[in-house]
Amino acid sequence: MELISIKSPSEIEKMRRAGRITAAARALAGKMVLPGVTTLEIDTAVRKFIRSQGGEPSFLGYAGYPGSACISVNDEVIHGIPSKKVVLKEGDIVSVDVGACVDGFHGDCAATYPCGKVSPEAERLIAVTEQSFWEGIKFARVGYRVSDISHAVQQYVEAQGFSLVRDYVGHGVGAKLHEPPEVPNFGPAGHGPRLMAGMTLAVEPMVNQGTWEVKVMKDGWTVKTLDGKLAAHYENSILITDGEPEILTVAEE
Ligand code: MF3
Ligand code: CO
Repeated sequence: MELISIKSPSEIEKMRRAGRITAAARALAGKMVLPGVTTLEIDTAVRKFIRSQGGEPSFLGYAGYPGSACISVNDEVIHGIPSKKVVLKEGDIVSVDVGACVDGFHGDCAATYPCGKVSPEAERLIAVTEQSFWEGIKFARVGYRVSDISHAVQQYVEAQGFSLVRDYVGHGVGAKLHEPPEVPNFGPAGHGPRLMAGMTLAVEPMVNQGTWEVKVMKDGWTVKTLDGKLAAHYENSILITDGEPEILTVAEE
């Protein structure tokens, strides 16, 4: 089994810098979610912003991925490829996932944004997805194990009548975008590695309105819900501490 890295104080400072830039890129993308905007325009803005801050988009070229952001609309769950053909329209829900590498360390975060006015059920899906992250990280503390986070996310989401994607999971994050351990959003509590101060994790519930099952499109990337219903995503990179977890992907005021 691969070891989970414990970050030193100077590495944590780099993770904070990467996290701030990543979160600011997410916020910038979120503000661009408006009718008539293409997902390629958002991607270009994200790439330019990250580079203007001295970072490099983590996703660009990762396993051949062509964008700096993943932008997934409506029934697209994750890994939507930005395109000038995808023009956002009123009522869409738009998941934006961004990563930035700064001084050798990555930040990774995502959120789902409404385009103009969306249906009450879409609004509720977005809110439940974000809240499930906060429910999960109540257990992101020394003394718990990875699957305590997973279980808390699942309990909360399923009680709200939505389902959790199983084919994709959260992960450790640091000098590499994806590090051990895997952080699923489902499963029984009390399993997986014990959490220790200095671990950095990307916790990222992917929540479907209908079935949890998904399919990968012919482009090799875009993941959609199998039943064509809506999906939402929310992610932050966090640091396990001796107390409350620290959110690394927060934008400066
Ligand atoms: N943010 C995604 C994750 O957390 C990574 C996107 S895949 C990439 O795993 F290829 F686009 F980088
Ligand atoms: Co991630």
